[in-house]
Amino acid sequence: MTSALYDPEHGFYTKGPLIGRPEGAFNTNAMFPAFAFALTRVIQQAEALIGEPLRVLEFGGGTGELASNILSFRSSSVNNYIIIETSPSLREQQKQRGITTFSSLENLSPAPTFVFGNEVLDALPVHRVMRDGTGELLELYVGLDEDRELMEFPRQPSTPLLAKRLQDEQINLGRGQVAEICLDLDDFLCAIQHVVSKGYVVFIDYGDEAADLYSYKKLNGTLRSFRSQKPTFDPFDAVGEQDLTADVDFTALKLAAVKAGFSYLGSSRQGTWLKSIGIDQYVSQTQKKHHAQMEIEQLTSMAYLGSCFDVYIFKTVGVPDGLTLHL
Ligand SMILES: C[S@@+](CC[C@H](N)C(=O)[O-])C[C@H]1O[C@@H](n2cnc3c(N)ncnc32)[C@H](O)[C@@H]1O
Repeated sequence: MTSALYDPEHGFYTKGPLIGRPEGAFNTNAMFPAFAFALTRVIQQAEALIGEPLRVLEFGGGTGELASNILSFRSSSVNNYIIIETSPSLREQQKQRGITTFSSLENLSPAPTFVFGNEVLDALPVHRVMRDGTGELLELYVGLDEDRELMEFPRQPSTPLLAKRLQDEQINLGRGQVAEICLDLDDFLCAIQHVVSKGYVVFIDYGDEAADLYSYKKLNGTLRSFRSQKPTFDPFDAVGEQDLTADVDFTALKLAAVKAGFSYLGSSRQGTWLKSIGIDQYVSQTQKKHHAQMEIEQLTSMAYLGSCFDVYIFKTVGVPDGLTLHL
C-alpha cells in the first residue's frame, strides 16, 4: 500500500490524482465551499476559546481547494495557514493557489495551532493480518507467484506490534478473519503533538470503533480500491493508477492521541456536527442560495455524506473543552 500510493515515481498520490471532480478519483467534502465555511467557523471558535489567533495546519490538503476556500472566509489579515502534504505534485497544485505547503512537520516550531485532516487517516498505509485455522495471527505479505502476478502470502507477522494492537483493543479475530491495522497512527499523532504548544486537533474520516471494525461482519477487512470513483475490487490491478484505502480504527486513533499527550474531547457524525456548528448560515453568505442549500444537504444528509464520515476532536492539556459543546 505504501508503494502503490506513495512510491516516489509511480505512487497514486505522488502522481497527483484528480480529486473531487466528476472525472476525478473521488468526491470529497473538500470540494464544497459550505464545508470550508463550517470549518472556518470552528477555527474561529477555537481562537475565541484560546483567546489568540491560531496557526492552521491542514494535513493532506489534496488540490488545495479546501484551503483556498477557508482562506477566502478568513479575515485577510490572517494568513498563518500551512498544508502538510506528502505528494510533490499535489504540493505543486497547492503552491499554485498561493498556499504555504511542506512535505512534513520537520521544520515547524511549536505554536498555538488548529490542526485538521479531512480523509487523511484513511490514506495511511495499513498492515493486513488474518487469524488462521489454528488460531494463529499471520500477516499477509505481497509477493509474486510463479506467473509473476501479485498475490498475498501469509507469514509470521513482521512486528509484535500487530498482535499488541489487537490485544490493547481487546479484539479476538475469528478464524479466517482478515483485518487491517494502521501502525503509523502513533508516530503521526506524536509528530503533531511536538508542534502544537496548545490547540485543537480535528479529524474527519470514515471508520469505526475497534469493536465494530473488527467484528465478524467484516470478515474480509475493509481494504478497498477505487478508480475514477468506482470500486475496482482488486487492489493488485493497475497498481499506482487506483486509490487504496481502509476504514480508520477510531479506537486506535484515540489511544494514539492520548498516548501522544492529547485529551479526547468527543466524536460525532459529520452531518450532526456540521449542523451544530452553523453550516446553514452559509446560505446567507452567498448569492447562489439554491446551490448552497444543495451543498449543505449533501454534506449533512444521513442518506449521503452526513453519515459516511465521523468527526473526532482532541485538545492539548489546559485549553478549554468548549469545542465539544456542539457534539
Ligand atoms: C484521500 S486524500 C484526501 C485529500 C483531501 N484532504 C480531500 O479531502 O480531498 C489523502 C491525502 O493525504 C495525503 N497524505 C497521505 N499521507 C500523508 C501524511 N502522512 N502527511 C500529510 N499528507 C498525507 C495524500 O497525499 C492525499 O493528498
